[in-house]
Parts: sequence; structure tokens; C-alpha cells
Amino acid sequence: MVCTPDALERMDVGVRDGRFAALAPPGSAPADAPTLDAGGCIVLPGLVDAHVHFREPGLVHKEDWGSASTAAVAGGVTTVLDMPNVLPPTATPAALEEKVARVAGRSRCHYGFYGLLAAANADQIEALAAAGAAGLKLFLGETTASLPAPADGALLEALRVAGACGLRTMVHAENGDLLAAAARRATGLDGLDAHLAARPALAEVEAVTRICLLASAAGAPLAIAHLAAAGAVRAVRRAKVDGVDVRGEACPHHLLLTHAQAAHLGSLAKVNPPLRTEADQAALWVGIADGTIDEIGSDHAPHATSEKAVAVAVAPAGFAGVQLTLPMLYGRLGPRRLVGLCAEGPARTWGLWPSKGRIALGADADLVVVRPHPPAQPAAQWSRHPDGPILRLCPPTAEVVATLVDGRPVWLHGAPRGSPAGRWLRR
Ligand code: DOR
Ligand code: ZN
Repeated sequence: MVCTPDALERMDVGVRDGRFAALAPPGSAPADAPTLDAGGCIVLPGLVDAHVHFREPGLVHKEDWGSASTAAVAGGVTTVLDMPNVLPPTATPAALEEKVARVAGRSRCHYGFYGLLAAANADQIEALAAAGAAGLKLFLGETTASLPAPADGALLEALRVAGACGLRTMVHAENGDLLAAAARRATGLDGLDAHLAARPALAEVEAVTRICLLASAAGAPLAIAHLAAAGAVRAVRRAKVDGVDVRGEACPHHLLLTHAQAAHLGSLAKVNPPLRTEADQAALWVGIADGTIDEIGSDHAPHATSEKAVAVAVAPAGFAGVQLTLPMLYGRLGPRRLVGLCAEGPARTWGLWPSKGRIALGADADLVVVRPHPPAQPAAQWSRHPDGPILRLCPPTAEVVATLVDGRPVWLHGAPRGSPAGRWLRR
């Protein structure tokens, strides 16, 4: 059963020179062609995960490109867009070129790189665009790596430049000043309760509202990362009604877990923005149903096990996820919506459509073969530090049997295949 943009149908999928070359009735493949039998399975376009932190350079004790890109294809992800909060941050063309050189020949999946948009490098946007950045990433509040945003005036100007270069900016939208104020008030609480109190919905709602206003005035396209608060979903919905070019992203952990369900895991479940209430979670699902949320990204953000094995207050935020999106969300979304949110949506947002995100003649032959039953064994995890609340608390609902990149199997029956042949998708 093959999931095309139009239907879910029984068919043969033919590949030539790395592209889809035939979509034909079952049994029509030439007898001498090498084949992969996907009987009993569902075939989807490879997932596009536009939100991963693969931690190179500088943070390879948390993750490295070999392990992370293996985890990606093990989870049916064939394209990733990697975040710039590494060491040094991806803040200049030189830093971007260093990343490109480091990752060349080591990635099992295709990849692109965000450039940073921060106070210290607001003059680098045109150069980052020229160097092939996939988009920009702006952190409005404090999180892993301290990369302060420009003040509003400078930010408005930077967004004008980004808009003129056609670069979309993905925003970590939490107001840093409101976070600091909430942290001062969050006394008498501990563990994840204190973390949740220190990162209130208000900080998210204010930041989403302000950045939509600024980007709209600047004519700059936006994407809001990891929507977590009900009010933030409403703010994105309103901005879209007002004609703002803003795309909404949600993450599997906010869709599948609440604070109440994961609080006992302490630091392991610490993430920014935090896991929130059932009402917030319900609002995310409404946002998916009505199109406010365009895409799902994993926010794969692992830290070393030893770094997480400390009190919540001092532990870093984030955990692995790139291998878990498909297995954990398949049962909740079904194949068509999964493809819409995890392949087509991000491909459209980040300029990869129509060559990625769909099974159609002429598109790149990146696909995943899924067995839609809970696996008998938990899948082996390939991230350097795979533990986290999704792995602990969410049952898998499907199994990745095979992943193909450019028509070649890169993942088959539980193991990586061939040498890494992922390509840099230079914008
Ligand atoms: O929990 C998080 N971890 N949120 C972020 O925004 C950054 C990420 C990381 O890089 O560790
Ligand atoms: Zn992130």
C-alpha cells in the first residue's frame, strides 16, 4: 500500500537514477529489476525532520552525525534540517562551511543547516543565505547554549534582510525576560514542577505574538518551533488569519505526553518549552485538525546520560527523538496525516517541495517501508543517548522495515546498509 499525495493504493513503485520513475499496478515491475518486497507494509515518502540538534561541531559527547543519522534512517527520516546552537554556533558563512565539510560523506540521510540569527551576528544574514543556509533559527529565550536575540529594533531590521533574501526564520518563542521573572516566583516547588512554573505559557504566547507582528511588518517568513501552550496555538491561528506567513510546528513529546504523565521522570523529561497540561495538549491536536500546525519536527536534542543524571534545576533540557516520531505517532495519525505533517508539511515550509515529501513521478526516491503493527521487540536505538520520556512512556505503534534514500536501501531489517550517501541540500 503506497501513500501518494492523492491516495493510499496498492501499486509497484519504480525507481531509476534516484528518482521515482514508475507508479504502476502491482506485478508490473520488470522481471530483471532488483526488487524490495513490501508486501503487508505501507510505503510512505521518507520523513523530513526540520528540527534536529545533531550536535556537531563541539558537542559530540551528546551526539554525533554518524549515530544521529543512523537513528534518523532507522526511524524512516530521510532528510533532516540541523540547528545552529553548536560550538562554535553556526553564525557565519565560515561556520556553515565548516559544518558542511565535517558532515560530508558521514550522513546516512540528506541534510540542510540552519544559520543562527542572534544579537551578535545580525549582520551575517545575507552571507548565510549566500552560503546555502536552509533557514535561520532565532532563540527568543534562554535554552541550550546562550545565544541572545537582537533587541526588537535590530530584530525588525534583521527580519527585513531575511525576508529580502527569502530566508524563513524558525523561532524558539519564549520571552526570556518573562521566563526570568517566572523563575524568581517559582519558589517552594522542586523537580519538573519548578521547571514548568519557571516557563509559563505567558512567555510563549507573548513571544509568538510579538515575533508574528515584527515578521509581518518586515515581510519575513516565519515558523514557530515546538508550539506547546494552547495560547501559542491560538496566537499562530490569529496571525495566519491576519495574513502573516507563519508556519506552526509541534513536537511528538508535546503531542503525546503531559507534565503530569512525565513529572516522575525528573531531569530525563526536562525540555524547553516544558511538557504542559492536558488542555495545552488538546489545543495542539485542535491545531493539527484545523491546519494551524503545519508540521511535526522531533526537536531531537540529546544530552550525555551523565549530564542528565543531576537535579532538574541544573540539568540541560532536551532528549533524543528523531528515531521515534514515526513509530510513536503512526497509530495516532494514520499514514495520510503522518505524511502530511512529517513529510509534505516540512518539505513545503523549507523549500524542499516538490522534490521531497511525496511519492510522485520525478520526485527524489526517498521512502520508508512501515509495518503498521506494534513491534514484538522494542527497536534498538541508534542515538548516542537515546533515553527520554517518549522512549520510556509511549508504546510504539509501527515498525520501520526499510528506508531508501535516492532509491538505495540505507536501512533494512534492523540494520544500516551501505556507506553514508546523504547529500547536503544547499538552499
Ligand atoms: O529542550 C531543548 N533543548 N529546547 C531547546 O530549545 C534546545 C534544545 C537543545 O539544544 O538542547
Ligand atoms: Zn530545538
